[in-house]
Amino acid sequence: MTYPRPVAVIVLAAGEGTRMKSSIPKVLHTIGGRSLVHHAIAAARGVEPAYLQVVVRHERDRVAAHIAECDPDALVADQDEIKGTGRAVECGLAALPADLEGTVVVTYGDVPLLTSSTLADLLTAHASAGSAVTVVTAHIDDPTGYGRIVRDAAGGVARIVEHKDATDAERALTEVNSGIYAFDSGLLRAGLAALTTDNAQGEKYLTDVLGYARAQGRAVAAYAIADVWQTEGVNDKVQLARLGAELNRRTVEAAMREGAIVRDPATTWIDTTASVGRDTIVHPHTQLLGATSVGADCEIGPDTTLTDTEVGDGATVCRAQALLAVIGPGATVGPWAYLRPGTELGAEGKIGTFVETKNAQIGAGSKIPHLSYVGDATIGVDSNIGASSVFVNYDGVDKHRTVVGDHCRMGSDTMYVAPLTVGDGAYSGAGTVLRQDVPPGALAVSGGAQRNLEGWVPAHRPGTAAARAAEAALATEQGEQA
Ligand code: UD1
Ligand code: CA
Repeated sequence: MTYPRPVAVIVLAAGEGTRMKSSIPKVLHTIGGRSLVHHAIAAARGVEPAYLQVVVRHERDRVAAHIAECDPDALVADQDEIKGTGRAVECGLAALPADLEGTVVVTYGDVPLLTSSTLADLLTAHASAGSAVTVVTAHIDDPTGYGRIVRDAAGGVARIVEHKDATDAERALTEVNSGIYAFDSGLLRAGLAALTTDNAQGEKYLTDVLGYARAQGRAVAAYAIADVWQTEGVNDKVQLARLGAELNRRTVEAAMREGAIVRDPATTWIDTTASVGRDTIVHPHTQLLGATSVGADCEIGPDTTLTDTEVGDGATVCRAQALLAVIGPGATVGPWAYLRPGTELGAEGKIGTFVETKNAQIGAGSKIPHLSYVGDATIGVDSNIGASSVFVNYDGVDKHRTVVGDHCRMGSDTMYVAPLTVGDGAYSGAGTVLRQDVPPGALAVSGGAQRNLEGWVPAHRPGTAAARAAEAALATEQGEQA
């Protein structure tokens, strides 16, 4: 991308967002795994401004703390009690060096689909036309509420009129102001100084800087974009969902263009920060969230949610939920598995049906196929954990670890009472309660020998179906013996 770098991008985020009806500041609501303001900051950062600044006011501490997490190099400026987009930029500019020169871009913190490449195109158009102001505009069917672009007889941009200040004829105009602009810094400074609050809303309108530029004989241009989504802001939770769905549609489409096979894009949710490799099949109702990265040639889903999880090439994950887990190449997970933080499944390993794992390193080729809980464990390579086993990691006060070696064959319904070590090549019998370490190669069994209390059921539960069945069976046996 070659484009003229801006000296600053000022992101406006001081508005209160009352229509969100939320205790969360508007720009902190998320779509695609990122807050609205994080999307705005990422787009701005993409054009490499010398200064990236966000203007805040409503819930300023909370918003400022969040901005520092998104982008530690972003500056935060405070808007005072004077209202309007013009005042917001004025406050922003006042907090930047006074000798700032070059192009200043203004964007909004609640417009999440705007891309860096659109900003780069704006900067290119602005520089090549030699304009003092370039405003990004969009043609929309229902322009209600937006500022309208008023053009002169020659087709040039004369000014912007706000909906509330517009005449009926102006309200019929369908080219609207997106609120995204490139300004010459000197013109912007002078234009802001000349703003008044003499309008329907009693605010300092940034839009009036365009009329000011024209009055000074400076060139004002419009950069119309066809992709209206990129100019759309979030004002309420209906728009939040609408833009969230559109962002997801774009992310899923990009994943497919990169080689992923998505069976049902409509029910697949991929965060902006997640990735999917080539020829990986994503089945319906799958969510790949946060920093999740899925390798190539995998099968993921259906009904699977992976958050901050790494999946190696060729793995299969079906009807599973995973958080902060690592699934090795060629491994198999599910159906119906719950991988909690710290789960690391080695290559070709298996976490099977109705299995929950937590803080468990499971070596290559090792399998936990059925109905088990494995918490706080290290399991070596090529070991098998029998069905219905529990790693008993909690003594009621503290958590303890279990270590199982390589090539173990552990029986079904084994209880691993931690802390515990099972040596390489060891076995356990079905139903064993392991309370002591098992040496390499040993077979561990526990519990007394089985006792059969003959005739107990007919004697103690006479007249029941079980007693009648037992009596009939015993009678048949006696008849055969006679
Ligand atoms: C503004 C434009 C309008 C444009 C529309 C596009 C002005 C006067 N009007 O409308 O022409 O069509 O955006 O959405 O600029 N903000 C502040 N401080 C303030 C006021 C707003 O930081 O004092 C921020 C808000 O947080 C928001 C953005 O500026 O991110 C736009 O504010 P909003 O009230 O939604 O826009 P309008 O003024 O209605
Ligand atoms: Ca708005």
